[in-house]
Amino acid sequence: MGLYDWQSALKEALRKNKRDAHNRYLQLATVREDGSPANRTVVFRGFTENSSQLCMVTDLRSEKLAEIALQPMGEACWYFTNTREQFRLRGELTADGASDSVQRRATWGNLSDAAKAQFFWPEPGAPLTSTPSDVPAPELPDTPPNDFVLLLLAAEEVDHLRLRGTPQTRFRSRLVDGLWQATAVNP
Ligand SMILES: Cc1cc2nc3c(=O)[nH]c(=O)nc-3n(C[C@H](O)[C@H](O)[C@H](O)COP(=O)(O)O)c2cc1C
Repeated sequence: MGLYDWQSALKEALRKNKRDAHNRYLQLATVREDGSPANRTVVFRGFTENSSQLCMVTDLRSEKLAEIALQPMGEACWYFTNTREQFRLRGELTADGASDSVQRRATWGNLSDAAKAQFFWPEPGAPLTSTPSDVPAPELPDTPPNDFVLLLLAAEEVDHLRLRGTPQTRFRSRLVDGLWQATAVNP
């Protein structure tokens, strides 16, 4: 394939769709211990420095982290409503909870207070014993708490479908020996 490159295409989609906050939500699928799929919505929080990985944040106590500890492969599915295009990004997920991680600290610093406060709520998924209004508003620290984890997806395969235009277009990119190879395929 000529000049197609999924990272540029994804950045272009982010730029063209940024007027609607929902375009930063993507669905992230992992594999449960019993082999069945688990899927949920998360917020895209940016790229790692060299743009190779997608960043999300999550709670150390969440089930997705137990799942990726057993099976690190996951897939993100991301639909941009304004430009009508979908990216499916398959690859390895890693959790960064390191206290000396510069990116983890920076990402914490960029969160809204409402997003930060969630990391002080009772254990996600555990039976409800108090209503959120019973939980006192925490003092929000400048450094991330233990339960704050940066979740990174290193794509190995990307499937990009553009619905806009006739004909629709679809590109499939694969990382082969450290280099991306993209192919135009039938939509
Ligand atoms: C719009 C939206 C955005 C969300 N963003 C996140 C997020 O960035 N990180 C996260 O861990 N959960 C996020 N959630 C909650 C997850 O979808 C999910 O319910 C939670 O993480 C528990 O998932 P798990 O039990 O599979 O770990 C979001 C939910 C919605 C509806």
